[in-house]
This record gives sequence, structure tokens and C-alpha cells, in this order.
Amino acid sequence: MKGLILSGGKGTRLRPITYTSAKQLVPVANKPVLFYAIEYLRDAGIHEVGIVVGDTRAEIRAAVGDGARWGVRVAYVEQPEPLGLAHAVKVAEPFLGRDRFVMILGDNVIEGGIAAYVQTFRRASCQALVILTPVADPQNFGVAELADGQIVRLVEKPRDPPSNLALVGIYMFDQHIFEAVNAIRPSARGELEITDAIQHLIDRGYAVEPVVHQGWWFDTGKMEDLLAVNRCLLETLEPRVEGRVDEASQLHGRVAIAPGAVVVHSVLRGPVSIGERTRVVDAYIGPFTSIGHDCVIEDCEIEHSIVMEHCRIVDVHHRLEDCLIGRNVEVSRSPLKPRAYKLMLGDNSKVGII
Ligand code: DAU
Repeated sequence: MKGLILSGGKGTRLRPITYTSAKQLVPVANKPVLFYAIEYLRDAGIHEVGIVVGDTRAEIRAAVGDGARWGVRVAYVEQPEPLGLAHAVKVAEPFLGRDRFVMILGDNVIEGGIAAYVQTFRRASCQALVILTPVADPQNFGVAELADGQIVRLVEKPRDPPSNLALVGIYMFDQHIFEAVNAIRPSARGELEITDAIQHLIDRGYAVEPVVHQGWWFDTGKMEDLLAVNRCLLETLEPRVEGRVDEASQLHGRVAIAPGAVVVHSVLRGPVSIGERTRVVDAYIGPFTSIGHDCVIEDCEIEHSIVMEHCRIVDVHHRLEDCLIGRNVEVSRSPLKPRAYKLMLGDNSKVGII
């Protein structure tokens, strides 16, 4: 069996972060979202992985390499334009050949991984297996209508959802999916929808098995979802101190401090993850916060946030909360008069001031 991870697309809902960087490389619990997908496949016994890439191909390749780090072989599949999930399957046909495969959207994170579901698919004789999960806002997803435990209909982002069961972005197929992706037409949003391709399989009488996932699952396309995944993952963080913490500092609960990090005269209330070589001085870092590597966090308070690498947050006297802060960002107090907010923000930035 092979794995296919979709890591193309535009990431418009995460601008400005995605102007300069792939949404699949935003870190949650200090690890890029995409790496979780690779680990799910490896842990399910899949060692041949294709990654579909688009505009952000160079960055994805630089981050993932040949997969040796995970003990898998990674091949890159070029998708010239993000024309839909079914289009990505089409362009991946030479890589996939006649093998059965698992397709994962590179921005999806799921509690417990996928090993059990892959095992079910390995044993089953169906042409496809889809994972469903109840959600509060089904109109934002592909939605399944079931009768007697079988799928009767799938609709993509319906205005009037037939159920609350969303299609999780993890699918398992055999070669019949190529027949479907070649038969369907673009949707109203101009994409070849995988939801329509699976409906095509159902209409032709092929067996499409649903399984309902009970734990948490997130599509990290939006900032609130990234903070929520960060929260869920940090809750299971292994506490460890590999950096240096001085005697004047206090660590409470699950706190992980990576090698080379330094904590001085600060309070860290877990779950908190501090990246390599980061300096935390005279600061409070509150629950559900991950700080990337090579940052300086000094004389400030921050909680329930993701801070990516190489940031400087210094001398800020109101607590920062619910923040997603990109790479190389500086937040500091201006020494010059007039006393005013002095901002340099990219297009589509969001700032909440008090
Ligand atoms: O997350 C689950 C949902 O994912 C499903 O419930 C929907 O049925 C499914 O259509 C999909 O919806 P999204 O609108 O959230 O998909 P999005 O455009 O965000 O793309 C998902 C991932 O696939 C993302 O990591 C980018 C990548 N992608 C997307 C497109 C359109 C590609 O690699 N190529 C593409 O052409």
C-alpha cells in the first residue's frame, strides 16, 4: 500500500502567514502539521509516500527531504495548479500505479493516527474507505448521508447539510478511483472534488465503506483550528527539560524545554513547549503555548498561542493571548516619542489592541 499526502493549495484562510510559507508547515506543538501525516502513514506500516506539491514545492522539499528521517521513501508529485483534490489524485496516477493507497490532506491532524483504519482497509474487499466524524459546522465540509450504516449520498460544503457527519481528509482507495476522477466535471468552485469522485464510485455500485471517528480531528486551515490542535497535542506532551532553567524560575505541569533553550527568572505554566536555543527571560508563559526555536521572549506574558521560530517578543506590558505569530516577527516597545502603536503588518494581518 502507498501513501499520498496533499500539500499543494493556496491556504488563503491563513494569510498573511501563507503569503510567505506553506500552510502545511505551520508548527503545532512545535512540529509542522505535515510531519504528523508522514508519521501516521509510517505508523500504519506505509513506507512509500508521495507528496503532492504546488507553489510551495521548494519549501516542502527542504523541510521533508527524502523521508529517511522517518524511515519512509518520499517522492514528489507536481500539481501545476490547485485544481482540486480529485485532480491531485489524477496527477499522482503514475506514482500510485495499481496499488491501493491512503490519501491524507496535509493540513489534517487526527487523534490516535490512522493505523486502525488502515488495518480495516487492508482486510476489507471494498474499493474505498472514508472516515467520517460529527462536527458542529457541517456546511464547511464534505458531508455524508447514511442509511443502515452505508453511505447513500455525499455532498461538498452543502448549504443545507443532510447530516452532521463530515468527511475527514483521510481516504483509502483502490485503482477504481482513477475511473472516477477521470469521469467527473469541475464543481461550482471550479475544482475536481474528491467528494464527487467518491459519489461516482457509489453510483457505479462500488463498495465505499464508512467508519466513524470518535476522537478529535482538525483541518488546520484556520487560525482557531491551529490553536485548538496545538492545545490538544500539548495536552499529551512528555515533560522534559533538556535546556537550562535557573533557580529563580518555576515550571508547572507539562513543560518541555528543548536543548540549548534557557529559562531565567520566569514562570512557565504548562502545557508549554519551548524550542531549541530559545531564551525566556523575566517572562510568564501560560498554558497551551508553543514557542519555536531561536526566539527571545523577554519581559512579557504570553498564553494560548503559537509563536514560530526566530521571533523577538520583548518588553510588552499587556498579556498576549490567542496569537499566531509567524517567523522572524518582532513585537517590542518603541523607545521613541510619540507614544504610539508603530506597526508594520503584512496584507490581511489581524491585530487586537487594548
Ligand atoms: O478537511 C476535510 C475537508 O477537506 C473535507 O471535508 C472536504 O470534503 C474536502 O473537499 C476538503 O475541503 P477543503 O476545502 O478544506 O480542502 P482544501 O482546499 O483546504 O485542501 C485540503 C488540502 O489539500 C490542503 O492541504 C491543500 C491540498 N490541496 C488542495 C487543492 C484544492 C492540494 O494539494 N491540491 C489542490 O488542488
